[in-house]
Amino acid sequence: MKVAASILDCDFLHLSDQLSAVVAAGADVIHLDVMDGHFVPNLSFGVPLARAVRSAVSVPVHSHLMVTEPEWLIEKFLPYSDLVVFHIEATELPDQCLETIHAAGKAAGISLNPGTAVESLKPLIADVQEVLVMSVHPGFGGQEFSDESPGRIRETARLIQKVGSKATIAVDGGINPSNCRLVADAGAHMVIAGSAIFRSKDYAATIKALKCP
Ligand code: DX5
Ligand code: ZN
Repeated sequence: MKVAASILDCDFLHLSDQLSAVVAAGADVIHLDVMDGHFVPNLSFGVPLARAVRSAVSVPVHSHLMVTEPEWLIEKFLPYSDLVVFHIEATELPDQCLETIHAAGKAAGISLNPGTAVESLKPLIADVQEVLVMSVHPGFGGQEFSDESPGRIRETARLIQKVGSKATIAVDGGINPSNCRLVADAGAHMVIAGSAIFRSKDYAATIKALKCP
């Protein structure tokens, strides 16, 4: 299991140290939660922070765009991201979004909220490198993992197999060392964790546990 550290819950006053610490502790990916105050009822950070993070770490950087009409914003995050994820609920132009990401030589992810039918991914799933299954309603760190998520991960895995897609499955929201096994058994390849890592005393021990050895 790969582990992405979501910096939403880090100590921004010491961002550089926090990044070094989670990477040294074994984080495979740095996950950036970009929020617009519209698609989700919260604001986070934008392009300058992504640029700073990209320059500070050598591990992949994934940008999770929780924004309405992401098509205009994607190209601004592409230079600082190895993978850009947008939400299926947020755009009427998903093909255009995928094309922009792929034209830049980057990987594309599609995310879906807990209330969105997994089946709605069908037209896009062959063309994405990642499906990001939200296990909370997006907008805030520190929320509780939805019990319906393992079933939704299994359904996503079945759809990926049925279509012959090469997409991997990432799961985001409320992940901690007690529920990551459930998520792994359901077919996830990567967990994204914010509060479980940054509110823990021992990042390395927490990340090791999240990897479900
Ligand atoms: C939720 C974000 C998540 C979140 C994870 O809107 O997409 O990435 O920051 O934080 P935790 O692990 O605290 O749920
Ligand atoms: Zn996220």
